[in-house]
Amino acid sequence: MIEHITVIGAGTMGRGIAYTAAVSGFKVVVQDISKEAVQQAKIYVEEQLQKRMSRDVITAEEAAAARNHLTYTTALEEAVTHADLVIEAVLEHMELKTKLFKELDKLTAAHTILATNTSTMSPTEIAAQTNRPERTVAMHFFNPVPNMKLIEVIRGLETSIETVKQVVEVGERMNKECVQVEEFPGFAVSRMNCVIGNEAMNMVLEGVSTVEGIDKAMKLGLNHPMGPLELADLVGLDTRLRNMEYLYQSLGEKYRPSPLLVKYVKAGRLGRKTGQGFYHYE
Ligand SMILES: NC(=O)c1ccc[n+]([C@@H]2O[C@H](COP(=O)([O-])OP(=O)(O)OC[C@H]3O[C@@H](n4cnc5c(N)ncnc54)[C@H](O)[C@@H]3O)[C@@H](O)[C@H]2O)c1
Repeated sequence: MIEHITVIGAGTMGRGIAYTAAVSGFKVVVQDISKEAVQQAKIYVEEQLQKRMSRDVITAEEAAAARNHLTYTTALEEAVTHADLVIEAVLEHMELKTKLFKELDKLTAAHTILATNTSTMSPTEIAAQTNRPERTVAMHFFNPVPNMKLIEVIRGLETSIETVKQVVEVGERMNKECVQVEEFPGFAVSRMNCVIGNEAMNMVLEGVSTVEGIDKAMKLGLNHPMGPLELADLVGLDTRLRNMEYLYQSLGEKYRPSPLLVKYVKAGRLGRKTGQGFYHYE
């Protein structure tokens, strides 16, 4: 039975996963190499708790219990000592992830399941760095994690059925719905979503419509809750560019990153997290 979860990487996704796990009753350690990211994660969790208390979604006692379930650290070894499940949410770089999984394999107990929150990359390639490919899997959460119902669960070549069963149980305890997807670059959602976002960016470049016009058209015309450019800003344009680059390398021309996306990332316009992307944020 999984009780202790360690989340590695306290950025956009890691802090959302950590919050969701803590309010679902898991004991959670959040680890990041950056002190500032750890600090921001703490602030984020507190904001989420306050927001839900003010709307009567959770009680003050439940919020206090969630706070007690959470520990924050920059020390990797200390972070994973008691972990039954590690969920990795560091940057979308294969080299970074494989190096981390090699280390996690050494530092964690034999029963620990290692999961990656990669949006696009091969869990088989990541698992091959460990001596426990049967206990390595992808759990792909969506942004913002507390609100989004889906987790894509992707088995690597050697992932055992028992591992899948255990992570699906974790997902259900977090009140999420798990969909099992076969391993293929971008799985189901990122592959489609990246193409829509990229096309929207190219349409801005071609002058088909404005940023606002394209987003409005998709919301009103196709009933998307957010426009593709708003969504790219929420994801983070640096993260989106890494996703596109990986899909372009593995699946070809259709996935070539839009020159506008490349330009924005070069300029440091990364979306909501920097206050400027396709939109301006206060
Ligand atoms: N942003 C999204 O909407 C979204 C959605 C689903 C999945 N993902 C995936 O989740 C992962 C994280 O994305 P994000 O948007 O949260 O990125 P982010 O840039 O917001 O955060 C990444 C964090 O990882 C930390 N980090 C880097 N190297 C580390 C290491 N060696 N050990 C510990 N921490 C380290 C960084 O300091 C940073 O705080 C990526 O694989 C991404 O593709 C992102």
